Amino acid sequence: MGAVLTGLLLWRPAAAQSTDPLKWVDPPGEESEAIRALIEQAKKALNSGASPSAILTNRTYDSVHAYPRFRQVMRDNASSPLNLVAEDETGERAVVRLRVLSAEGRPVANALVYVYHTSAKGWYSDRGYHIRANSGDERHARLFGYLRTNPEGYVEFKTVRPAGYPDGNLPAHFHVEVLEPAGGPITEVVFIDDPRLTTDAKENSKRQGFFVATPAKDSDGIWRINAEFQLRS
Ligand SMILES: [Fe+2]
Repeated sequence: MGAVLTGLLLWRPAAAQSTDPLKWVDPPGEESEAIRALIEQAKKALNSGASPSAILTNRTYDSVHAYPRFRQVMRDNASSPLNLVAEDETGERAVVRLRVLSAEGRPVANALVYVYHTSAKGWYSDRGYHIRANSGDERHARLFGYLRTNPEGYVEFKTVRPAGYPDGNLPAHFHVEVLEPAGGPITEVVFIDDPRLTTDAKENSKRQGFFVATPAKDSDGIWRINAEFQLRS
């Protein structure tokens, strides 16, 4: 009995330690048998008519979000509208509408748009702030989606409002990449109501071509966020 109690006492602090957030989380390595099976399961579900939102919001697949092959499966099934977060995801709900316009200002249909962002805690991983790899956050962020614009050039996704990184003062942001047509903007959306978006930060955002969005809460308490992006040629 004494040994069991001592064991429990020793075990507790260790468990608490293991849940401390990491500043850097390692990227996924080789797929284990279980990971491989889960990615195949997602693929099969999509091929049998499951919606990409159903896959992204299903906690069963949480452990494969960081894996390149899972992301490729989601990319192959890009669609809109898309739900990026499970029902129990912490954070303020947002519906984000992005529009892709040609250099001449006309809507671009069927553009492939990649989005990724931090959680309401400012983390890209479920275990910490950033993923330790070249473009680690871009390649492995837990919250992400691939979307296709409709004939009016719009995509729409449901998610939570991201927070700024805990280890700095950069404003909160969505990363937005127009992957098709090739040469599309790789940019960010920042928020006018973000306390981190100081005058300097706003100037800096504009210089970098980021979109400064004006979030507005609708009657259901959901943030509506709109942004548009123009192709250069
Ligand atoms: Fe970022």
